[in-house]
Amino acid sequence: MTPERIDWISHPAGPLHGELTVPGDKSISHRAIMLAALAEGVSRIDGFLEGEDTRATAAIFGAMGVRIETPSASRRIVHGAGLHGLAAPAGVLDCGNSGTGMRLLAGLLAGQRFDSVLVGDASLSQRPMRRVIEPLAAMGARIEAEPGGLPPLRIAGGAALSGIACTPPVASAQVKSAILLAGLYADDVTEVREVHPTRDYTERMLAAFGWPIEFAPGWARLSGGHRLHATDVVVPADFSSAAFFLVAATLVPGSALVLRGVGLNPRRTGLLAVLRRMGADIVEQNRREQGGELVADLVVRYARLRGIDVPVEHVADMIDEFPALFVAAAAAEGITMVRGAAELRVKESDRIAVMADGLRRLGIAVEETPDGAVIEGGALRGGEVASHGDHRIAMSFAVAALVARGAVRIGDCANVATSFPGFVELANGCGFRLAPA
Ligand code: S3P
Repeated sequence: MTPERIDWISHPAGPLHGELTVPGDKSISHRAIMLAALAEGVSRIDGFLEGEDTRATAAIFGAMGVRIETPSASRRIVHGAGLHGLAAPAGVLDCGNSGTGMRLLAGLLAGQRFDSVLVGDASLSQRPMRRVIEPLAAMGARIEAEPGGLPPLRIAGGAALSGIACTPPVASAQVKSAILLAGLYADDVTEVREVHPTRDYTERMLAAFGWPIEFAPGWARLSGGHRLHATDVVVPADFSSAAFFLVAATLVPGSALVLRGVGLNPRRTGLLAVLRRMGADIVEQNRREQGGELVADLVVRYARLRGIDVPVEHVADMIDEFPALFVAAAAAEGITMVRGAAELRVKESDRIAVMADGLRRLGIAVEETPDGAVIEGGALRGGEVASHGDHRIAMSFAVAALVARGAVRIGDCANVATSFPGFVELANGCGFRLAPA
């Protein structure tokens, strides 16, 4: 999806100023396309993330016969095909870099009458899929993977699914969602319990599309045999994209930024709690409900941070924000400890290893542990780091450079387009000095 290699040079800069709106939420954009495609009637999606991941998901439904119009950027009009109205695709379905796309689609496609094959890019092809294959197989799905449970996934059509009650061993909204989406096609009741509550967008959106579902933090239950009814979805700005600017403005003396309309679902905002505990000055203004989600404008000002032990109960609520947190910890006074975050090793890259390596190259003492890291805050210097094609690592090091003593060259940044198109322009607009190398 991103054939061209792009490296960045990010220079020390600041202070940061301005008001910005980051792109739409990735998790919600994926789900909005999926449920609108399976609904009866026409749904409008506003604030859709024009990222490669979510566009890949939209293209997959296009390949299964769903008419999706793009009246303007960040808008989609989806002509729902109904729960049983998808057409067999002519070729393989390419999820690109997106674990969310592949895992949710595995559940959804397990219930179709036709066979399908899900493929991904080099990074996605190394990510574990047993976590969805096993519970889906227990429901009656027939899915074959490569040795080690890796993609591509070959999903046999025509399987008769039955509901299960299960507690997946990892806290994962993707796994929970795959099971619930298969549950739409299952005979009886499907129930998922979680070891830690994770984002509940699938549950909320199923309810918004009229599917009967019961859920509470850490638990969801539905039964098959209902219908989805088209509805309009308004996608809030992605907290995970806002996170880079929250950390950047906190670290650079004299900064003050306003991030407009950021989604504040409590299962996403662990970083807010952690940054505040470290001493950050972030104020929520104009809190309101938008499309059933809590959003607010976040006002962030420079503040001195001190290291903390990150409470394990926040880990699932900030699972995508650890690269940004590692940078905050590197610039804080004292030691920050992260535990209970082994999942970071199976994200778009091994985020513990890659962040530890990059920060060490910039002069920071980091000790890796199997499920986290111990980061000793200090003076960052310039240098060269590798993002390993991981969008969030690339953006995190662009932030680190702001407070380094010299420029940071960041390798392999093209995948930023998977989640945050326009990052460079938005960042430079508020005071970054970031350019292609
Ligand atoms: C996501 C869930 C999380 C997160 C990912 C998006 C989702 O993954 O890291 O970026 O949209 O459901 P896990 O559920 O595997 O933790």
